[in-house]
Amino acid sequence: MTTLGTPLSPSATRVMLLGSGELGKEVLIALQRLGVETIAVDRYENAPGQQVAHHARTITMSDPAQLRALIEAEKPQLVVPEIEAIATPMLQQLEDAGVVRVIPTARAARLTMDREGIRRLAAETLGVPTSPYKFCDSLAELQAAIDDGIGYPCIVKPVMSSSGKGQSKIDGAADVQKAWDYAMAGGRVSHGRVIVEGFIDFDYEITLLTVRALDGTGAVQTQFCEPIGHVQVSGDYVESWQPHPMAPVALQKAQQIAQAVTADLGGQGLFGVELFVKGDQVWFSEVSPRPHDTGMVTMATQWQNEFELHARAILGLPVDTTLKSPGASAVVYGGVDATGIVFDGVADALAVPGVDLRLFGKPESFSKRRMGVALAHAADIDTARRNAKEAASRVKPRQA
Ligand SMILES: Nc1ncnc2c1ncn2[C@@H]1O[C@H](COP(=O)(O)OP(=O)(O)O)[C@@H](O)[C@H]1O
Ligand SMILES: [Mg+2]
Repeated sequence: MTTLGTPLSPSATRVMLLGSGELGKEVLIALQRLGVETIAVDRYENAPGQQVAHHARTITMSDPAQLRALIEAEKPQLVVPEIEAIATPMLQQLEDAGVVRVIPTARAARLTMDREGIRRLAAETLGVPTSPYKFCDSLAELQAAIDDGIGYPCIVKPVMSSSGKGQSKIDGAADVQKAWDYAMAGGRVSHGRVIVEGFIDFDYEITLLTVRALDGTGAVQTQFCEPIGHVQVSGDYVESWQPHPMAPVALQKAQQIAQAVTADLGGQGLFGVELFVKGDQVWFSEVSPRPHDTGMVTMATQWQNEFELHARAILGLPVDTTLKSPGASAVVYGGVDATGIVFDGVADALAVPGVDLRLFGKPESFSKRRMGVALAHAADIDTARRNAKEAASRVKPRQA
């Protein structure tokens, strides 16, 4: 049975978040509510999660020496990666040495930090359906991969990137050079490897939040949330809703894929499994071994939102994935490049029926940076989507 301590005392249960953006902030709040002592780490000061944690630390998380020194100094029982850009081989070393437990596992963090590890695992080891794909290290290899089978249209992505950065669709031979150059400029690290994927002409895409948590006997049990539908613009999420209606056969396939992938990654915690659906066909796209941005909608729709589910699962506590109400989320972008911005229209936004708002408190705004999210619950998803979008549009960020 899990025993929880008292924060800021010798009995404390100490948890370190690696990455303290808007998703980490909500995980930290969920942990705080259980009396866990929290250490929020990010690459810059006053990150959203650092504002709600017991301790704030600022380091370069991709630097193995800095990461090791911090974990050894702080001695958390659990290390919870919130982002991909972390020195995961060092996490693996520390986990292997018994210094710390990584959520869900150091191997899961390593395999999902670049597109190649997780794609090869899913498609080649587990035999899960995915888009056709090839990894390429040069423009010539990219062109050859397209000519030898991937075909047009296709999508090119840097192997290390997120939120659509460096990602573009290629419709014909004229776009190949441009897509390569864009990927080279948009990757997280400057090594020129990309994945090219055949374009899947899906009816819709979902995130299937999948939780591996302990049951009453101490065994790991896999539970699913209702499917989350979402809209992506240039690879970045702008809107999501739950539950997304699905044909029973497609839902069953989606759950089987999610079960297979998360079981292999192992450990305890919540995963965001991204899937494409066309009729009864389902393809695996990618997985986050942590809460998912499209899952912010669960703050309006579930008895236990994805952050609470993650917090409970990693602590060995039981979870409840049931839906409370249909609902939707809509992103509030910064719209301006400035620090210390202000938000007009918050009262107007909150006057929309069934609406709630999260402003993340990011110290610096960029025009396309996610600064907040509007949440709505309603009797049906159409109303919820309309209300969430309306509320988001009423929030007006501007320079102070
Ligand atoms: N092979 C594909 N076919 C069709 N659409 C795709 C494909 N790959 C990605 N997309 C679209 O781009 C979005 C972002 O791609 P994804 O691989 O999830 O990148 P990221 O890691 O940046 O989220 C997807 O949610 C989907 O809308
Ligand atoms: Mg994605």
